[in-house]
Amino acid sequence: MDHFIIHGGYPLCGEIVIGGAKNSALKLLAAGLLTSDQLVLSNVPRIDDIVTMCVLLKQHGLNVTDISGDGSVLSVGGKITNTEAPYDIVSKMRASVLVLGPLLARCHEARVSLPGGCAIGTRPITLHLKGLETLGANITLENGYICASTTSRLKGGEVVFPFASVGATENVMMAATLAEGRTTIVNAAREPEIIDLANCLKNMGAEIKGAGEKTIVIDGVDSLHGAHYRVMPDRIECGTYACAAAITGGDLRLINGNTDHLAAVVQTLRHCGVEVHQTDNVMRVWCKERLRSTEITTEPYPGFPTDMQAQFMALLSVAEGTSKVTETVFENRFMHVPELVRLGAHIDVQGSLATIHGVRTLTGAPVKATDLRASFSLILAGLVAHGETILDHVHHLDRGYEAVERKLSACGAKIERVQKNQEIKPV
Ligand code: UD1
Repeated sequence: MDHFIIHGGYPLCGEIVIGGAKNSALKLLAAGLLTSDQLVLSNVPRIDDIVTMCVLLKQHGLNVTDISGDGSVLSVGGKITNTEAPYDIVSKMRASVLVLGPLLARCHEARVSLPGGCAIGTRPITLHLKGLETLGANITLENGYICASTTSRLKGGEVVFPFASVGATENVMMAATLAEGRTTIVNAAREPEIIDLANCLKNMGAEIKGAGEKTIVIDGVDSLHGAHYRVMPDRIECGTYACAAAITGGDLRLINGNTDHLAAVVQTLRHCGVEVHQTDNVMRVWCKERLRSTEITTEPYPGFPTDMQAQFMALLSVAEGTSKVTETVFENRFMHVPELVRLGAHIDVQGSLATIHGVRTLTGAPVKATDLRASFSLILAGLVAHGETILDHVHHLDRGYEAVERKLSACGAKIERVQKNQEIKPV
């Protein structure tokens, strides 16, 4: 397994280009199942989760072509020859469950493995299944698989979610594009990635109104066609590098950054004493003083994103004063805390509340990445820790961040990837 060796203490200054959004690109690729035409996606991030989604689509029978030669422009489309999503792929990446709605809508049947456990919580998919049942699907659970079918086309209906779920909103929205009649999704998730998916589906001929609002209305059409679509920039990647500028006392220009998609994050950064300024497509983030403590509660969009919680925990570990972080979206998303403590952070966790007593300095140590965002919080801590931090289990990071060591090194960070069989040597 690869590790990173990080030597802390260098302010990050320069430019970082923010790539395409993982959480959008994965769903846009799944939307390729809704048509036999070619869906061409550009600005696709080159990360492991995209590779996994392409493997899944190929085993459903789709042609996946790398048009650019570097993975950033992909074309998907073709005949579906297999409606089963197997356990080995779905258990590797939960977003695989997003093929359920499209397969059901286009083929009237799907057999998708239940995803199983996850590092950050139990993450049930009941809302996805209830939503698809409202559209007329018969769903049973057999031998660890979701078996879904309809005798004819899905039928539009009113899907009322008890709370907003990103994935359930997306699965139902995709399925409803090919259903007969009107579907209304009440209490829909409002994340920018939902709007991105709706915009792509509209380019493919779907009739969707209200994406980004609490109620989405979809009028089903007989078929969808191919389209060209550019994946939106990754707001979480952008927020993460904003934290890198903040924690190192640096000054970064984040190209393709958009403060509109990060309002709650930007507000919190400013509260901590960080300067954030948007001009055209550049978000500049800098910090010249010690960070100040704050209070954060994670919530569905437009609230503070759970996907930024771990990164802020690193920031607040070295901020002046006592901070509080309440995680309300996932039940087990503090696995980075013991690792941050290994670097010298003072954090107490009680249930969903973490209390962080800011310290002046962290000290390098060997630490282990536990999930995607947690991995980056440890990099952030390593970037300011005295001495050497060795981050193990970097494969979590590779699932969702493109070229991390290249982007950080170009701005002055001392970070090196050591490959599995390579001997660990000092930087
Ligand atoms: C997506 C994002 C993930 C982000 C999360 C919340 C992708 C690939 N992943 O995940 O990065 O952290 O949104 O912003 O886009 N829930 C249920 N029943 C359901 C569905 C969800 O109880 O049927 C719960 C989940 O366990 C979780 C909460 O609802 O506690 C929110 O989950 P959801 O919005 O569905 O997140 P994902 O789509 O899985």
